[in-house]
Amino acid sequence: MDYESFIRQIYNHTGIDLSLYKEAQMKRRLTSLREKRGYSDFDTYFRALKKDDELFFEFLDRMTINVSEFYRNAQRWEVLEKDILPGLIKNKRRLKVWSAACSTGEEPYTLAMVLSKYFRLNNIQILATDIDENVMMRAKKGVYPERSLKEVPEDIKKKYFKQEGNFYQVTDDIKQCVTFKKHNLLADQYDKQFDLIVCRNVLIYFTEEAKQNVYKHFSEALNDNGVLFVGSTEQIFNPQKFNLQPMETFFYQKS
Ligand SMILES: C[S@@+](CC[C@H](N)C(=O)[O-])C[C@H]1O[C@@H](n2cnc3c(N)ncnc32)[C@H](O)[C@@H]1O
Repeated sequence: MDYESFIRQIYNHTGIDLSLYKEAQMKRRLTSLREKRGYSDFDTYFRALKKDDELFFEFLDRMTINVSEFYRNAQRWEVLEKDILPGLIKNKRRLKVWSAACSTGEEPYTLAMVLSKYFRLNNIQILATDIDENVMMRAKKGVYPERSLKEVPEDIKKKYFKQEGNFYQVTDDIKQCVTFKKHNLLADQYDKQFDLIVCRNVLIYFTEEAKQNVYKHFSEALNDNGVLFVGSTEQIFNPQKFNLQPMETFFYQKS
């Protein structure tokens, strides 16, 4: 079985459509994992994946790429806090916020920490979603190694983390701001009426066509004047096509 039929089988088995991810990158990653595990072709590898959960979760892990950190690209979070949020929160007691492709939780928890500058914690409710349930189990625990916190401002670190040996635990009041849910950006329905959608460092893995579809869905999911915050290599080339106006770099407003 070649890579194309492996893609079909994975789709039938899991609902995950690998053909919507950039092929060269994905194929390289999966071929090296397959070879590392000693399977000479995708046919035998697929049959093994079906039988062996551990192998299957390893495959999922490799295809999804879960690296994240708190305040990733810290200057962008400062722009969000100082320049974007003041406009968004005018006359609002709460915002409807979505961290899409949230991985192990650093991003939605960062959002809660930034929003806490403007709202009481019990008025903050963030939806955090990812395709990978394993990473969200880790997200719910909220325990991180020190290297995930290197961009966290000192006052925030004191206020919202408890150190336990070499690890840092996010405080319960921040955890309570976030609801985790499984969601596939390439297949599932999108919720609506968001004021802010944060989706960073996942669209780079999608094909151009898949990306355009996701932008369309994000635009429909935003309220008028709602904001989409994307990753640092993920500028949208034709935002107007989706009724999105560039604001600051990496921020777009629905018009
Ligand atoms: C590199 S992480 C980004 C984490 C975080 N947004 C950040 O910028 O630090 C990419 C995440 O996208 C998720 N992902 C991949 N394909 C997805 C899909 N089709 N729908 C939802 N999430 C997906 C992966 O599971 C992974 O957790």
